Amino acid sequence: MSRKIIVLDTTLRDGEQVPGAKLNAVQKVEFARQLERLKVDIVEAGFPASSRGDFESVQAVTRAVGRQMSVTALARAVKSDIDAVYESIKEADQPLIHIVLGTSNIHVEKKFNRSKDAVMEMGVEAVKYAKSLLPHVQYSTEDASRSDFDYLWRTIEAVVKAGATMINVPDTVGYAEPHEFGELIRRINERLKNLDERVILSVHCHNDLGLATANTLSAIRGGADKVEVTVNGLGERAGNTSLEEVVMALKVREALFGCSTGIRTTELLPTSRLLTHLTGLDVQVNKAITGENAFAHSSGIHQDGLLKDKRVYEIMSPEEVGAESMELVLTARSGRHAFKHAAARMGFEPKDDADFEALFEKFLALADARKEVYDHDVFALVNGHREAQPKDEAVAARLFELESFQVVTNELCPTATVKLRRGAETLKGSAVGDGPIDALFGVIRELAGFEVRLKHYKINSLSRGEEAVGRVNIQLEYDGKTYAGRAMDTDIIKASALAFLNGINAIVLDSAPGEEAVVAIG
Ligand code: KIV
Ligand code: ZN
Repeated sequence: MSRKIIVLDTTLRDGEQVPGAKLNAVQKVEFARQLERLKVDIVEAGFPASSRGDFESVQAVTRAVGRQMSVTALARAVKSDIDAVYESIKEADQPLIHIVLGTSNIHVEKKFNRSKDAVMEMGVEAVKYAKSLLPHVQYSTEDASRSDFDYLWRTIEAVVKAGATMINVPDTVGYAEPHEFGELIRRINERLKNLDERVILSVHCHNDLGLATANTLSAIRGGADKVEVTVNGLGERAGNTSLEEVVMALKVREALFGCSTGIRTTELLPTSRLLTHLTGLDVQVNKAITGENAFAHSSGIHQDGLLKDKRVYEIMSPEEVGAESMELVLTARSGRHAFKHAAARMGFEPKDDADFEALFEKFLALADARKEVYDHDVFALVNGHREAQPKDEAVAARLFELESFQVVTNELCPTATVKLRRGAETLKGSAVGDGPIDALFGVIRELAGFEVRLKHYKINSLSRGEEAVGRVNIQLEYDGKTYAGRAMDTDIIKASALAFLNGINAIVLDSAPGEEAVVAIG
Protein backbone atom coordinates (compact mmCIF):
# COMPACT_ATOMS: atom_id res chain seq x y z
CA MET A 1 0.00 0.00 0.00
CA SER A 2 1.10 3.50 -0.85
CA ARG A 3 2.53 5.61 2.01
CA LYS A 4 0.57 8.86 2.42
CA ILE A 5 2.69 12.01 2.22
CA ILE A 6 1.33 15.05 4.07
CA VAL A 7 1.42 18.24 2.00
CA LEU A 8 1.91 21.58 3.76
CA ASP A 9 1.54 24.54 1.45
CA THR A 10 3.55 27.59 2.51
CA THR A 11 2.77 29.84 -0.46
CA LEU A 12 1.03 32.27 1.90
CA ARG A 13 4.06 32.45 4.21
CA ASP A 14 7.37 31.59 2.51
CA GLY A 15 6.03 32.33 -0.98
CA GLU A 16 4.55 35.61 0.07
CA GLN A 17 7.92 36.83 1.40
CA VAL A 18 8.92 37.48 -2.23
CA PRO A 19 9.06 41.23 -2.92
CA GLY A 20 5.87 42.29 -4.66
CA ALA A 21 4.01 39.07 -3.86
CA LYS A 22 2.38 40.48 -0.73
CA LEU A 23 -1.31 39.63 -0.61
CA ASN A 24 -3.99 41.30 1.46
CA ALA A 25 -6.39 39.37 3.69
CA VAL A 26 -9.09 39.09 1.00
CA GLN A 27 -6.60 37.68 -1.51
CA LYS A 28 -5.12 35.31 1.06
CA VAL A 29 -8.56 33.95 1.85
CA GLU A 30 -9.31 33.50 -1.84
CA PHE A 31 -6.09 31.58 -2.34
CA ALA A 32 -6.64 29.50 0.82
CA ARG A 33 -10.08 28.49 -0.50
CA GLN A 34 -8.39 27.30 -3.69
CA LEU A 35 -5.88 25.32 -1.57
CA GLU A 36 -8.90 23.70 0.03
CA ARG A 37 -10.20 22.68 -3.41
CA LEU A 38 -6.71 21.38 -4.20
CA LYS A 39 -6.94 19.36 -0.98
CA VAL A 40 -3.68 20.29 0.67
CA ASP A 41 -3.44 18.93 4.21
CA ILE A 42 -2.01 21.96 6.01
CA VAL A 43 -1.93 25.63 5.02
CA GLU A 44 0.76 27.87 6.47
CA ALA A 45 -1.06 31.18 6.45
CA GLY A 46 1.65 33.65 7.45
CA PHE A 47 3.94 35.05 10.10
CA PRO A 48 1.50 36.83 12.43
CA ALA A 49 4.09 38.52 14.65
CA SER A 50 5.50 40.36 11.64
CA SER A 51 2.67 42.90 11.31
CA ARG A 52 -0.88 43.59 12.36
CA GLY A 53 -1.97 43.07 8.74
CA ASP A 54 -0.37 39.63 8.68
CA PHE A 55 -1.97 38.69 12.00
CA GLU A 56 -5.39 39.63 10.63
CA SER A 57 -4.79 37.76 7.38
CA VAL A 58 -3.86 34.58 9.26
CA GLN A 59 -6.98 34.96 11.38
CA ALA A 60 -9.12 35.50 8.26
CA VAL A 61 -7.65 32.37 6.62
CA THR A 62 -8.30 30.38 9.80
CA ARG A 63 -11.94 31.49 9.85
CA ALA A 64 -12.38 30.71 6.14
CA VAL A 65 -10.79 27.26 5.89
CA GLY A 66 -9.99 26.18 9.46
CA ARG A 67 -12.87 23.67 9.52
CA GLN A 68 -11.67 21.89 6.38
CA MET A 69 -7.90 21.83 6.78
CA SER A 70 -5.19 22.18 9.38
CA VAL A 71 -3.84 25.74 9.72
CA THR A 72 -0.42 26.79 10.89
CA ALA A 73 1.64 29.99 11.10
CA LEU A 74 5.26 30.75 11.85
CA ALA A 75 6.82 31.87 15.13
CA ARG A 76 10.39 32.50 16.16
CA ALA A 77 11.33 30.82 19.44
CA VAL A 78 9.99 33.67 21.54
CA LYS A 79 6.84 33.89 23.62
CA SER A 80 5.34 36.92 21.86
CA ASP A 81 5.61 35.24 18.42
CA ILE A 82 4.07 32.03 19.77
CA ASP A 83 1.23 34.04 21.35
CA ALA A 84 0.57 35.76 18.01
CA VAL A 85 0.40 32.39 16.23
CA TYR A 86 -1.86 30.92 18.90
CA GLU A 87 -4.25 33.87 18.86
CA SER A 88 -4.49 33.89 15.06
CA ILE A 89 -5.02 30.13 14.49
CA LYS A 90 -6.77 28.93 17.65
CA GLU A 91 -10.21 28.84 15.99
CA ALA A 92 -9.11 26.16 13.51
CA ASP A 93 -10.19 22.57 14.14
CA GLN A 94 -6.56 21.44 13.86
CA PRO A 95 -4.26 24.33 14.68
CA LEU A 96 -0.51 23.77 14.54
CA ILE A 97 2.14 26.09 15.98
CA HIS A 98 5.29 26.26 13.87
CA ILE A 99 8.50 27.33 15.64
CA VAL A 100 11.76 27.99 13.82
CA LEU A 101 15.26 28.25 15.28
CA GLY A 102 18.65 27.84 13.59
CA THR A 103 20.94 24.88 14.21
CA SER A 104 23.93 25.57 11.94
CA ASN A 105 27.11 27.04 13.45
CA ILE A 106 26.77 30.15 11.35
CA HIS A 107 23.19 30.76 12.53
CA VAL A 108 24.00 30.08 16.17
CA GLU A 109 27.10 32.30 16.16
CA LYS A 110 26.00 35.17 13.94
CA LYS A 111 22.28 35.41 14.69
CA PHE A 112 22.14 34.66 18.40
CA ASN A 113 25.64 35.23 19.72
CA ARG A 114 24.98 32.58 22.39
CA SER A 115 26.40 29.15 23.12
CA LYS A 116 24.90 26.19 21.25
CA ASP A 117 23.43 24.83 24.47
CA ALA A 118 21.82 28.18 25.26
CA VAL A 119 20.22 28.31 21.79
CA MET A 120 18.96 24.74 22.20
CA GLU A 121 17.46 25.68 25.55
CA MET A 122 15.61 28.58 23.88
CA GLY A 123 14.07 26.04 21.47
CA VAL A 124 13.09 23.68 24.29
CA GLU A 125 11.47 26.48 26.30
CA ALA A 126 9.61 27.68 23.20
CA VAL A 127 8.22 24.19 22.54
CA LYS A 128 7.16 23.77 26.18
CA TYR A 129 5.35 27.09 26.05
CA ALA A 130 3.66 26.28 22.71
CA LYS A 131 2.57 22.90 24.10
CA SER A 132 0.91 24.64 27.01
CA LEU A 133 -1.32 26.32 24.41
CA LEU A 134 -1.93 23.66 21.76
CA PRO A 135 -1.30 19.92 21.33
CA HIS A 136 0.38 20.15 17.89
CA VAL A 137 3.75 21.85 17.57
CA GLN A 138 6.19 21.73 14.67
CA TYR A 139 9.84 22.57 15.24
CA SER A 140 12.02 23.65 12.30
CA THR A 141 15.77 23.30 12.63
CA GLU A 142 16.64 26.19 10.32
CA ASP A 143 19.66 25.66 8.05
CA ALA A 144 19.67 21.98 9.01
CA SER A 145 21.53 20.91 5.86
CA ARG A 146 24.57 22.97 6.94
CA SER A 147 24.39 21.93 10.59
CA ASP A 148 26.71 19.71 12.52
CA PHE A 149 24.82 16.38 12.73
CA ASP A 150 25.45 15.75 16.44
CA TYR A 151 24.10 19.14 17.44
CA LEU A 152 21.20 18.83 14.99
CA TRP A 153 20.22 15.48 16.48
CA ARG A 154 20.67 16.65 20.09
CA THR A 155 18.32 19.55 19.29
CA ILE A 156 15.73 17.28 17.70
CA GLU A 157 15.89 14.89 20.63
CA ALA A 158 15.49 17.72 23.14
CA VAL A 159 12.54 19.40 21.42
CA VAL A 160 10.75 16.06 20.90
CA LYS A 161 11.16 15.36 24.61
CA ALA A 162 9.73 18.84 25.25
CA GLY A 163 6.65 17.89 23.21
CA ALA A 164 7.24 18.73 19.51
CA THR A 165 4.96 16.57 17.36
CA MET A 166 6.56 17.37 13.98
CA ILE A 167 10.20 17.90 13.13
CA ASN A 168 10.84 19.90 9.99
CA VAL A 169 14.30 19.71 8.43
CA PRO A 170 14.89 22.69 6.15
CA ASP A 171 17.49 23.18 3.46
CA THR A 172 17.12 26.90 4.11
CA VAL A 173 19.72 28.16 1.66
CA GLY A 174 19.25 25.53 -1.06
CA TYR A 175 22.71 24.05 -0.44
CA ALA A 176 21.89 20.35 -0.22
CA GLU A 177 22.45 17.73 -2.91
CA PRO A 178 19.82 15.00 -3.37
CA HIS A 179 21.86 11.97 -2.37
CA GLU A 180 23.32 13.73 0.67
CA PHE A 181 19.95 15.20 1.77
CA GLY A 182 18.19 11.84 1.41
CA GLU A 183 20.90 10.29 3.56
CA LEU A 184 20.55 13.01 6.21
CA ILE A 185 16.80 12.35 6.41
CA ARG A 186 17.33 8.59 6.55
CA ARG A 187 19.71 9.00 9.54
CA ILE A 188 17.33 11.33 11.36
CA ASN A 189 14.32 9.11 10.57
CA GLU A 190 16.03 6.01 11.95
CA ARG A 191 16.76 7.72 15.29
CA LEU A 192 13.41 9.52 15.43
CA LYS A 193 11.48 6.27 15.01
CA ASN A 194 13.35 4.88 18.02
CA LEU A 195 12.78 8.02 20.04
CA ASP A 196 9.05 8.46 19.34
CA GLU A 197 7.48 6.91 16.27
CA ARG A 198 4.44 9.21 16.45
CA VAL A 199 6.56 12.25 15.56
CA ILE A 200 6.20 13.28 11.92
CA LEU A 201 9.35 13.99 9.95
CA SER A 202 9.05 16.80 7.44
CA VAL A 203 11.29 18.56 4.89
CA HIS A 204 11.39 22.07 3.49
CA CYS A 205 13.75 22.85 0.59
CA HIS A 206 14.83 25.93 -1.31
CA ASN A 207 15.81 26.01 -4.93
CA ASP A 208 19.05 28.01 -5.06
CA LEU A 209 20.81 25.26 -7.04
CA GLY A 210 17.65 24.15 -8.86
CA LEU A 211 17.56 21.02 -6.67
CA ALA A 212 14.57 21.65 -4.39
CA THR A 213 12.26 19.08 -6.00
CA ALA A 214 15.05 16.49 -6.29
CA ASN A 215 16.03 17.02 -2.65
CA THR A 216 12.42 16.73 -1.48
CA LEU A 217 11.87 13.51 -3.42
CA SER A 218 15.13 12.09 -2.12
CA ALA A 219 14.03 12.97 1.43
CA ILE A 220 10.76 11.10 0.85
CA ARG A 221 12.76 8.05 -0.14
CA GLY A 222 14.78 8.58 3.04
CA GLY A 223 11.59 8.39 5.13
CA ALA A 224 10.12 11.92 5.27
CA ASP A 225 6.34 11.79 5.76
CA LYS A 226 5.58 15.42 5.11
CA VAL A 227 6.71 17.99 2.54
CA GLU A 228 6.58 21.77 2.67
CA VAL A 229 6.01 23.26 -0.76
CA THR A 230 4.67 26.29 -2.60
CA VAL A 231 2.57 26.66 -5.72
CA ASN A 232 4.69 27.57 -8.78
CA GLY A 233 7.73 27.14 -6.50
CA LEU A 234 7.19 30.73 -5.32
CA GLY A 235 9.50 31.70 -2.48
CA GLU A 236 12.56 33.54 -1.25
CA ARG A 237 15.34 34.01 -3.85
CA ALA A 238 15.11 31.06 -6.29
CA GLY A 239 11.99 29.84 -4.51
CA ASN A 240 10.78 26.79 -2.60
CA THR A 241 10.03 23.25 -3.71
CA SER A 242 7.20 23.39 -6.19
CA LEU A 243 4.03 21.65 -5.01
CA GLU A 244 2.95 20.57 -8.47
CA GLU A 245 6.32 18.98 -9.31
CA VAL A 246 6.49 16.84 -6.16
CA VAL A 247 2.84 15.83 -6.38
CA MET A 248 3.06 14.80 -10.05
CA ALA A 249 6.42 13.05 -9.59
CA LEU A 250 4.85 10.94 -6.82
CA LYS A 251 1.80 10.28 -8.97
CA VAL A 252 3.55 9.45 -12.23
CA ARG A 253 6.23 7.37 -10.48
CA GLU A 254 4.05 5.92 -7.71
CA ALA A 255 5.38 2.41 -8.32
CA LEU A 256 8.92 3.66 -7.72
CA PHE A 257 8.26 5.85 -4.67
CA GLY A 258 5.48 3.77 -3.12
CA CYS A 259 3.98 7.05 -1.91
CA SER A 260 1.06 9.29 -2.81
CA THR A 261 -0.57 12.52 -1.71
CA GLY A 262 -4.21 13.46 -1.27
CA ILE A 263 -3.89 16.33 -3.76
CA ARG A 264 -6.68 16.70 -6.35
CA THR A 265 -4.35 17.09 -9.31
CA THR A 266 -6.99 18.54 -11.65
CA GLU A 267 -6.84 21.67 -9.45
CA LEU A 268 -3.10 22.17 -10.03
CA LEU A 269 -3.36 24.45 -13.03
CA PRO A 270 -6.30 26.52 -11.72
CA THR A 271 -4.31 27.04 -8.48
CA SER A 272 -1.21 28.08 -10.37
CA ARG A 273 -3.20 30.51 -12.49
CA LEU A 274 -4.94 32.01 -9.50
CA LEU A 275 -1.59 32.63 -7.83
CA THR A 276 -0.24 34.30 -10.97
CA HIS A 277 -3.33 36.44 -11.09
CA LEU A 278 -3.10 37.44 -7.43
CA THR A 279 0.64 38.12 -7.30
CA GLY A 280 1.19 39.27 -10.87
CA LEU A 281 4.25 36.99 -10.98
CA ASP A 282 4.26 34.99 -14.21
CA VAL A 283 5.31 31.37 -14.45
CA GLN A 284 8.20 30.70 -16.84
CA VAL A 285 6.78 29.19 -20.04
CA ASN A 286 8.78 25.98 -19.78
CA LYS A 287 8.11 25.41 -16.06
CA ALA A 288 7.28 21.75 -15.37
CA ILE A 289 3.55 21.01 -14.98
CA THR A 290 2.26 24.60 -14.86
CA GLY A 291 4.26 26.40 -17.58
CA GLU A 292 2.41 27.41 -20.73
CA ASN A 293 4.53 25.05 -22.83
CA ALA A 294 4.54 22.13 -20.37
CA PHE A 295 2.30 20.08 -22.67
CA ALA A 296 3.04 21.72 -26.02
CA HIS A 297 4.78 19.53 -28.57
CA SER A 298 6.27 21.43 -31.45
CA SER A 299 8.64 19.13 -33.31
CA GLY A 300 7.23 17.20 -36.25
CA ILE A 301 8.60 13.88 -35.00
CA HIS A 302 6.89 14.35 -31.63
CA GLN A 303 3.61 15.46 -33.16
CA ASP A 304 3.63 12.46 -35.46
CA GLY A 305 4.29 10.11 -32.53
CA LEU A 306 1.54 11.72 -30.43
CA LEU A 307 -1.00 11.35 -33.19
CA LYS A 308 -0.29 7.63 -33.25
CA ASP A 309 -0.52 7.25 -29.49
CA LYS A 310 -0.27 9.98 -26.84
CA ARG A 311 1.84 7.78 -24.60
CA VAL A 312 4.69 7.93 -27.15
CA TYR A 313 5.70 11.32 -25.78
CA GLU A 314 3.36 12.02 -22.87
CA ILE A 315 4.04 10.73 -19.33
CA MET A 316 0.93 12.40 -17.93
CA SER A 317 -2.04 13.96 -19.59
CA PRO A 318 -2.74 17.69 -19.53
CA GLU A 319 -6.27 16.87 -18.28
CA GLU A 320 -4.76 15.21 -15.19
CA VAL A 321 -3.32 18.53 -14.02
CA GLY A 322 -6.40 20.51 -14.91
CA ALA A 323 -5.56 21.72 -18.42
CA GLU A 324 -8.63 21.71 -20.59
CA SER A 325 -8.51 19.03 -23.24
CA MET A 326 -10.01 21.47 -25.69
CA GLU A 327 -10.41 25.17 -25.25
CA LEU A 328 -13.93 26.41 -25.89
CA VAL A 329 -14.26 29.74 -27.61
CA LEU A 330 -17.36 31.51 -26.33
CA THR A 331 -19.37 34.20 -28.06
CA ALA A 332 -22.31 36.38 -27.04
CA ARG A 333 -24.57 33.62 -28.39
CA SER A 334 -23.01 30.79 -26.39
CA GLY A 335 -25.72 31.01 -23.74
CA ARG A 336 -25.87 30.56 -20.01
CA HIS A 337 -25.18 26.84 -19.98
CA ALA A 338 -21.89 27.04 -21.90
CA PHE A 339 -20.75 30.05 -19.90
CA LYS A 340 -21.65 28.37 -16.60
CA HIS A 341 -19.55 25.38 -17.58
CA ALA A 342 -16.56 27.56 -18.56
CA ALA A 343 -16.83 29.66 -15.35
CA ALA A 344 -17.07 26.51 -13.19
CA ARG A 345 -13.82 25.25 -14.75
CA MET A 346 -12.21 28.48 -13.49
CA GLY A 347 -13.39 27.71 -9.93
CA PHE A 348 -16.52 29.89 -9.94
CA GLU A 349 -19.21 28.74 -7.54
CA PRO A 350 -22.09 31.26 -7.65
CA LYS A 351 -23.48 32.21 -4.26
CA ASP A 352 -26.98 32.26 -5.78
CA ASP A 353 -28.77 32.91 -9.09
CA ALA A 354 -28.29 36.66 -8.80
CA ASP A 355 -24.54 36.17 -8.38
CA PHE A 356 -24.39 34.06 -11.54
CA GLU A 357 -26.52 36.57 -13.47
CA ALA A 358 -24.22 39.42 -12.42
CA LEU A 359 -21.22 37.55 -13.82
CA PHE A 360 -23.12 36.53 -16.94
CA GLU A 361 -23.93 40.20 -17.62
CA LYS A 362 -20.22 41.01 -17.47
CA PHE A 363 -19.51 38.14 -19.85
CA LEU A 364 -22.11 39.41 -22.33
CA ALA A 365 -20.62 42.92 -22.23
CA LEU A 366 -17.16 41.49 -22.91
CA ALA A 367 -18.43 39.15 -25.62
CA ASP A 368 -20.18 42.06 -27.35
CA ALA A 369 -17.00 44.09 -27.31
CA ARG A 370 -14.60 41.28 -28.18
CA LYS A 371 -16.67 38.84 -30.28
CA GLU A 372 -14.63 35.84 -29.08
CA VAL A 373 -14.02 35.06 -25.42
CA TYR A 374 -11.26 32.61 -24.49
CA ASP A 375 -10.53 30.68 -21.31
CA HIS A 376 -8.11 33.29 -19.98
CA ASP A 377 -10.82 35.95 -20.48
CA VAL A 378 -13.27 33.87 -18.44
CA PHE A 379 -10.57 33.44 -15.81
CA ALA A 380 -10.08 37.22 -15.67
CA LEU A 381 -13.85 37.78 -15.47
CA VAL A 382 -14.28 35.30 -12.63
CA ASN A 383 -11.43 36.78 -10.62
CA GLY A 384 -12.46 40.37 -11.27
CA HIS A 385 -15.96 39.46 -10.13
CA ARG A 386 -14.66 37.86 -6.92
CA GLU A 387 -12.51 40.87 -6.12
CA ALA A 388 -15.43 43.23 -6.68
CA GLN A 389 -17.57 41.45 -4.08
CA PRO A 390 -18.92 43.87 -1.48
CA LYS A 391 -16.45 44.13 1.35
CA ASP A 392 -17.06 44.79 4.99
CA GLU A 393 -18.59 48.31 5.08
CA ALA A 394 -15.95 49.80 7.37
CA VAL A 395 -13.20 48.44 5.11
CA ALA A 396 -14.92 49.57 1.91
CA ALA A 397 -15.20 53.12 3.28
CA ARG A 398 -11.39 53.30 3.55
CA LEU A 399 -10.66 52.18 -0.01
CA PHE A 400 -10.28 54.39 -3.09
CA GLU A 401 -12.38 53.80 -6.18
CA LEU A 402 -11.83 55.20 -9.65
CA GLU A 403 -14.88 57.14 -10.70
CA SER A 404 -13.65 58.70 -13.94
CA PHE A 405 -10.49 59.86 -15.65
CA GLN A 406 -9.26 61.69 -18.70
CA VAL A 407 -5.77 61.58 -20.11
CA VAL A 408 -4.48 63.98 -22.76
CA THR A 409 -1.21 63.07 -24.34
CA ASN A 410 0.95 65.34 -26.47
CA GLU A 411 4.62 66.25 -26.74
CA LEU A 412 4.31 69.42 -24.68
CA CYS A 413 2.24 68.71 -21.66
CA PRO A 414 0.74 65.24 -21.03
CA THR A 415 -2.07 65.78 -18.51
CA ALA A 416 -4.33 63.53 -16.47
CA THR A 417 -7.52 64.45 -14.64
CA VAL A 418 -8.95 61.93 -12.19
CA LYS A 419 -11.99 61.69 -9.98
CA LEU A 420 -11.77 59.23 -7.07
CA ARG A 421 -14.26 58.19 -4.49
CA ARG A 422 -13.60 57.06 -0.94
CA GLY A 423 -16.69 56.35 1.10
CA ALA A 424 -18.87 59.44 0.84
CA GLU A 425 -15.92 61.62 -0.19
CA THR A 426 -15.15 62.66 -3.78
CA LEU A 427 -11.61 63.65 -4.70
CA LYS A 428 -10.77 65.41 -7.93
CA GLY A 429 -7.53 66.73 -9.39
CA SER A 430 -5.19 67.09 -12.38
CA ALA A 431 -1.48 66.71 -12.90
CA VAL A 432 1.02 66.95 -15.72
CA GLY A 433 3.81 64.44 -16.19
CA ASP A 434 6.62 63.27 -18.46
CA GLY A 435 4.06 61.12 -20.23
CA PRO A 436 0.40 60.13 -19.86
CA ILE A 437 1.04 57.32 -17.36
CA ASP A 438 3.36 59.51 -15.30
CA ALA A 439 0.66 62.22 -15.20
CA LEU A 440 -2.02 59.64 -14.30
CA PHE A 441 0.00 58.12 -11.47
CA GLY A 442 1.04 61.59 -10.28
CA VAL A 443 -2.53 62.78 -9.82
CA ILE A 444 -3.68 59.55 -8.13
CA ARG A 445 -0.71 59.70 -5.77
CA GLU A 446 -1.58 63.29 -4.88
CA LEU A 447 -5.28 62.63 -4.37
CA ALA A 448 -4.66 59.57 -2.23
CA GLY A 449 -2.03 61.42 -0.21
CA PHE A 450 0.54 58.63 -0.13
CA GLU A 451 4.24 59.32 -0.78
CA VAL A 452 4.65 56.19 -2.87
CA ARG A 453 7.45 55.42 -5.29
CA LEU A 454 6.72 53.44 -8.44
CA LYS A 455 9.22 50.56 -8.49
CA HIS A 456 7.94 48.51 -11.37
CA TYR A 457 5.33 48.82 -14.12
CA LYS A 458 4.51 46.08 -16.61
CA ILE A 459 1.80 45.64 -19.22
CA ASN A 460 1.01 42.26 -20.75
CA SER A 461 -1.46 41.47 -23.43
CA LEU A 462 -3.64 38.69 -22.10
CA SER A 463 -5.57 37.60 -25.10
CA ARG A 464 -5.20 36.96 -28.76
CA GLY A 465 -6.38 39.11 -31.59
CA GLU A 466 -6.66 42.81 -31.92
CA GLU A 467 -9.15 43.38 -29.10
CA ALA A 468 -6.58 42.50 -26.47
CA VAL A 469 -7.12 42.69 -22.75
CA GLY A 470 -4.19 44.41 -21.06
CA ARG A 471 -2.98 43.20 -17.71
CA VAL A 472 -1.01 45.75 -15.73
CA ASN A 473 1.19 44.96 -12.75
CA ILE A 474 2.79 47.60 -10.65
CA GLN A 475 4.94 47.61 -7.55
CA LEU A 476 4.88 50.54 -5.16
CA GLU A 477 7.21 51.35 -2.34
CA TYR A 478 5.80 52.98 0.78
CA ASP A 479 7.58 53.24 4.12
CA GLY A 480 10.26 50.85 2.85
CA LYS A 481 7.66 48.15 2.10
CA THR A 482 6.66 46.91 -1.34
CA TYR A 483 3.02 46.63 -2.38
CA ALA A 484 1.60 45.23 -5.59
CA GLY A 485 -1.39 46.33 -7.62
CA ARG A 486 -2.91 44.58 -10.61
CA ALA A 487 -5.77 45.18 -12.95
CA MET A 488 -7.09 44.10 -16.33
CA ASP A 489 -9.06 46.01 -18.90
CA THR A 490 -9.37 46.36 -22.64
CA ASP A 491 -8.26 49.99 -22.09
CA ILE A 492 -4.67 49.85 -20.87
CA ILE A 493 -4.74 53.41 -19.50
CA LYS A 494 -7.71 52.46 -17.33
CA ALA A 495 -5.99 49.19 -16.35
CA SER A 496 -2.93 51.25 -15.34
CA ALA A 497 -5.01 53.62 -13.19
CA LEU A 498 -6.83 50.71 -11.54
CA ALA A 499 -3.58 48.82 -10.88
CA PHE A 500 -2.03 51.91 -9.27
CA LEU A 501 -5.13 52.41 -7.15
CA ASN A 502 -5.15 48.75 -6.14
CA GLY A 503 -1.54 49.18 -4.98
CA ILE A 504 -2.59 52.20 -2.88
CA ASN A 505 -5.54 50.21 -1.49
CA ALA A 506 -3.11 47.43 -0.51
CA ILE A 507 -1.27 50.01 1.62
CA VAL A 508 -4.56 51.15 3.15
CA LEU A 509 -5.48 47.56 4.02
CA ASP A 510 -2.07 47.03 5.59
CA SER A 511 -2.43 49.99 7.91
CA ALA A 512 -4.72 50.37 10.90
CA PRO A 513 -7.83 52.55 10.43
CA GLY A 514 -6.85 56.19 10.92
CA GLU A 515 -3.17 55.48 10.27
CA GLU A 516 -3.43 56.24 6.55
CA ALA A 517 -1.77 59.30 5.10
CA VAL A 518 -3.82 62.47 5.27
CA VAL A 519 -5.64 63.06 2.03
CA ALA A 520 -4.79 66.32 0.37
CA ILE A 521 -7.81 67.27 -1.70
CA GLY A 522 -6.62 68.90 -4.89
O1 KIV B 1 13.65 28.07 4.81
C1 KIV B 1 13.43 27.89 6.02
O2 KIV B 1 14.28 27.43 6.79
C2 KIV B 1 12.11 28.26 6.52
C3 KIV B 1 11.74 27.78 7.88
C4 KIV B 1 10.88 28.77 8.60
C5 KIV B 1 11.07 26.44 7.78
O3 KIV B 1 11.33 28.84 5.81
ZN1 ZN C 1 11.86 28.55 3.67
